Amino acid sequence: MIDDFFGAIRIGLVKQAALGFFDSGVGGLTVVRAVQDLLPHEDVIYLGDTARLPYGSKSPETIRQFADEDVNFLLSKGVKAIVVACNTATAHALPSLQQKYEIPIMGVILPGVEAALADPTAERIGIIATRGTIGSHVYQHALATRRTGLMIHGIAAPLLVPLIEENWISEEVTQQVLLKYLQPLIDKGIDTLMLACTHYPLLVPVLKEVLPSDVRLVDSATTCAEHLKIMLEKIDLLSDQEEDGKLSIYLTDLSEQFEELARRFLKRSTGKIHRAVVG
Ligand code: DGL
Repeated sequence: MIDDFFGAIRIGLVKQAALGFFDSGVGGLTVVRAVQDLLPHEDVIYLGDTARLPYGSKSPETIRQFADEDVNFLLSKGVKAIVVACNTATAHALPSLQQKYEIPIMGVILPGVEAALADPTAERIGIIATRGTIGSHVYQHALATRRTGLMIHGIAAPLLVPLIEENWISEEVTQQVLLKYLQPLIDKGIDTLMLACTHYPLLVPVLKEVLPSDVRLVDSATTCAEHLKIMLEKIDLLSDQEEDGKLSIYLTDLSEQFEELARRFLKRSTGKIHRAVVG
C-alpha cells in the first residue's frame, strides 16, 4: 500500500530539511503529534490555512487551488517532503499534487484505511468526515476495494470543525451535535468508526460517551507517521541530527484561541506562531 503515497522524487533533497504539513486549521496537528512521537529528530513546518477554513464545504476545484498554494508555501520554506494533513485536501488534491511536484507528498486517507482494516474482524464501518471527503467517495472506494463484504456508511458532519476550532470540545452542544450525526450509524450497528477528518481525534472523549463501548475508533495519525518513516527510510531522507526537531507553525490568520487549541492538539508547547501569506 505504501507505494501509493509517492510522487516523483526529486534528486537533491536533503536530510536536514524540515518536513512540511498543511491543513485548513489546527486539525493537522494531530498528525504532527504522531510524527513528533515517532520521529523526534525531524524539524517540522506546519501551515494552517485558518483564513480560508473550512475546506470541507468548498468545491473540489477550490480545494485543489488552495492545496496547490499551500504546497507552494511549504516549498518556499525548503521542505524535503510534504504530508497533506487534511482528509478533504487529500481526497480532492493528492493525485494532482503528486503528479505536479517532484517531491514526496503523502496524504492521510490510505493510512486511515489501513488502520481501519488492521482489525480482521471489522465488518460494519462508519465514516464521519467533512462534506467534501464523504462526497468524494475516496474512503468508501478504498475500503471496498481492499476488503469485500464490508458494510460502509459515511456521514458528513460539517458542524464539527467549527465547534472544534471554537474550542467548544467539552460543551454540551457538541455532544448533542455528535449524537445527532452518529445515531444513524449506531442504529446500523457499526463496529468501527473512522474519524476521517484530522480535527476529530480531539473529540475522542466525547465520542466515547456517545457511542456504544464496543465501537472501535480509528484515525490516520499513527499509521500516517509510520508510513512517513518508511518512506523517508526508503529514500534515505530521515534526519540525522541528534537534537530534538524544531516545530514552526504558520497560519494565514492569527486567532486568539489558536495557541491554546494547538497545545491541546500537540500536547506540548507550540513555540512561536508566524503569520503566512499564501496564494
Ligand atoms: N481537517 C480537515 C480534514 O481532515 C478539514 C477541515 C475543514 O476545513 O473542513 O478534512
